[in-house]
Amino acid sequence: TEKTIAVIKQAIHTIENYPIDGVMFRDITGILENAEAFQATIDLLKDKFENQGFTKIVGTEARGFLFGAPLACAMGIGFVPVRKPGKLPRATYAQSYQLEYGQDTLEIHQDALVKEDKVLIVDDLLATGGTIEATTKLIQKLGANPHSAAFVISLPDLGGEEKLSQLDLNVYSILQFEGE
Ligand code: PRP
Ligand code: MG
Repeated sequence: TEKTIAVIKQAIHTIENYPIDGVMFRDITGILENAEAFQATIDLLKDKFENQGFTKIVGTEARGFLFGAPLACAMGIGFVPVRKPGKLPRATYAQSYQLEYGQDTLEIHQDALVKEDKVLIVDDLLATGGTIEATTKLIQKLGANPHSAAFVISLPDLGGEEKLSQLDLNVYSILQFEGE
């Protein structure tokens, strides 16, 4: 597993001062471009979460789709997209959340989950936790159980792990970038 994690970490590019000055951007496109790293990421998450009774994966537009959908396929369970406003054609519920500057909204199909569903949320990266807090609320609106959240990368300095733990979510990340 340590070797696997090193393969994944090496595939992540770090871009300084993107998208604004002072930010170290962790770019996961290098994982997607590298078959070994991409496969290792999905295999690792599958090993961690299979055989625990998860019935659905929920992934948040857009980068959550890139890991959530292949993981759902590998685990043999369904995938539910949480999308930016106006993209889902059936009846939806909406949830607003705070960004660093301003607000955004996410939506889910009202009939995408049932109350018996045990859900694994997947996203590429956990920063402040705002995106996944909103996603968790959408899952709760459908009466389902947002049990766990899995990320390729977590930035613990930004407080997301704490925020999500307070929501009773079990949080897991493959890699943590801290104080860097
Ligand atoms: C990025 C990233 C996470 C989120 C993390 O998504 O993919 O979803 O930010 O930040 P947070 O923990 O502070 O909410 P972004 O909104 O940039 O959009 P994208 O996935 O469509 O690229
Ligand atoms: Mg995102």
